[in-house]
Amino acid sequence: MIDIARSATQFNAKMPQQIRGLIQDRPNVHNDSPVRVPSGVSRVLRNVVPWNTDIALIEATTAPEQWSYALSYPLHEESLQGLAPDDALIIECRVRVHEGDLGIVAIGADYSSFASRERTVRANTAPVTVRVWLRDPGKASHLLFRNAASDGTATRFGILGLRAHKMPGGRNFQASWSSPESRSIPLAELGRALAWAGTTWDQPFPARPLAATSASLEIVDTADLPSVLGVAGQAQPIAANGKALADWKMEADDAPILEQLWRAVAPRRHLEFGTWEGFGATLVARVTDADIWTLNLPEGETGADGETLYSSTDSGQFIGRLYREAGFASRVHQVLCDSRDFDTRPFEREPFDTVLIDGGHTPDVVASDTEKALRVVRKGGTCVWHDFCPDPDTLSRNLAPLGVVQAAVENFDAWRARFDRLFWIRKSWILVGLGAK
Ligand SMILES: C[S@@+](CC[C@H](N)C(=O)[O-])C[C@H]1O[C@@H](n2cnc3c(N)ncnc32)[C@H](O)[C@@H]1O
Repeated sequence: MIDIARSATQFNAKMPQQIRGLIQDRPNVHNDSPVRVPSGVSRVLRNVVPWNTDIALIEATTAPEQWSYALSYPLHEESLQGLAPDDALIIECRVRVHEGDLGIVAIGADYSSFASRERTVRANTAPVTVRVWLRDPGKASHLLFRNAASDGTATRFGILGLRAHKMPGGRNFQASWSSPESRSIPLAELGRALAWAGTTWDQPFPARPLAATSASLEIVDTADLPSVLGVAGQAQPIAANGKALADWKMEADDAPILEQLWRAVAPRRHLEFGTWEGFGATLVARVTDADIWTLNLPEGETGADGETLYSSTDSGQFIGRLYREAGFASRVHQVLCDSRDFDTRPFEREPFDTVLIDGGHTPDVVASDTEKALRVVRKGGTCVWHDFCPDPDTLSRNLAPLGVVQAAVENFDAWRARFDRLFWIRKSWILVGLGAK
């Protein structure tokens, strides 16, 4: 696990504490779902061993239609009122899904607005524990169990345990770097933000243990970027962007920063991990004379559940469509492969001036892409990671930066040692390594 070393920084969200009495015992039953409540003996047993038991509190079967509601547990209003305004909640659900796919989500009193992300549990012989994060517990009134199977099968499941934890200060907080005076982010603080945000996502990526560290990551404000890039006087500083980092969009918010960066560095040879539709490659082609290599999975990316992550717009003819439409096809070499299988040897002899790392966003892929990037970037060259954002709020709402920040934190010393400067551009979702060694 991430080492949550103490240090005097503002971001100090505490880890969750169990609260009792939030979830009422009896669920509402919807759509005439068949329900079986176990015997009194099991209830007695559960009172003795309330959590780690394999005995179901209730067994139920949903209707066959996708999204049909089966059970909803009312959340006790008085317990919710006892929370501080900035507390968030985690509800842990231990379930066994015998057949189908089970959706678990907190909903509002209207029975339709979501008060959490929905978790999906697939049929499995073993019980699993999933955590539902409620950023704004006051908006929740029920914990809902519904049919997530898309093929018209009913979902059969048992609920083995439910318990709630509050995350003190888990809703509104300020990280120390958000103060303009902060010129760097202590890595320990980044580790705490990562551990906290990982909890809100139910730890989506395996984490490596981290040693306590006094290292910190430099911050460069957009106003200072021209001078850091050696183009002060030629490039206009980019004005401060008032948008919340959690709502950031590459095309609107990071594009002007990347444009300034690529113009200033003026690569002749550029490599990009992750083409998608070719927005990033088009940007480089437009503002530089570079020859560009860009690579993408030929069939696009799927998540752990096998579902496509980009609605298939990252496969086949969609890949690189924008740079072709903009007339840059002759300068762009499209490589179709899994970046983890990318053979760097031909490029080590003729390295790149710049590399953009923006392919798979799980920590293992980011780490592998970076290792390859470092093999093929020339001495003095530049590496840029997209989707690096240290803001805890952003990390709790967007999975891509969570993976990139985890890779950066876990590999910080190795990455830092390979550049003259490694810095986050404030505000952006961009990390820059300048002057590769
Ligand atoms: C965020 S998008 C890239 C956006 C693009 N760089 C831009 O600036 O417009 C990530 C892309 O990486 C691809 N990808 C994900 N994992 C990959 C892997 N292991 N190897 C190659 N490409 C991968 C996905 O298919 C997707 O098209």
